[in-house]
Amino acid sequence: MEALENIRTRRSIRRFKEEMIPEDILERIIDAGTHAPTAMNRQSPIIIAVTNKEVRDRISRLNAQIMGTSGDPFYKAPVILVVLADKSCANRVYDGSLVMANLMLAAHDQGIGSCWIHRAKEEFESEEGKALLRSLGIEGEYEGIGHCALGYIDGEYPSEPQRKDNWVYYVK
Ligand SMILES: Cc1cc2nc3c(=O)[nH]c(=O)nc-3n(C[C@H](O)[C@H](O)[C@H](O)COP(=O)(O)O)c2cc1C
Repeated sequence: MEALENIRTRRSIRRFKEEMIPEDILERIIDAGTHAPTAMNRQSPIIIAVTNKEVRDRISRLNAQIMGTSGDPFYKAPVILVVLADKSCANRVYDGSLVMANLMLAAHDQGIGSCWIHRAKEEFESEEGKALLRSLGIEGEYEGIGHCALGYIDGEYPSEPQRKDNWVYYVK
């Protein structure tokens, strides 16, 4: 897909099929995330690629708890890419956000639906979140930036939200 067309037509998907994404497609999406620009090329973010249903559901429960709901904040998506970034890097949130954008755009390019799911910061500040990182052998201090929910789209493709006025101020 052409880059500008891809950017314009990506939408947040909030209904997913439970069908798993093939590994080669998932790898391409993850690879795009690792090619995001980062401040001073510190490459502060990390990506936790969760396809394990048990861990996926654990993250979902933790996120729902923070959100104060009992539903699945990930809309049944079978894959969650958690982006965190090294707390010692001042630009970690910017770096991690660009990783998130790359992941969502790459997913769209590959015919996969995506949605940024928030509350990663709170999630990995919690004891359970920290324990999850430790159980995965992830050492060091990381701040949660966002979760990229991924999966095949169930139902109709969302329409584009209208652009606000005064997005751009030209100085010619
Ligand atoms: C920082 C950030 C946090 C978001 N958190 C959530 C979320 O927790 N749940 C959700 O369904 N969508 C979330 N979104 C998706 C936005 O609601 C969505 O991007 C916006 O409504 C515009 O729609 P579009 O992505 O289809 O253009 C988030 C997006 C961003 C950038």
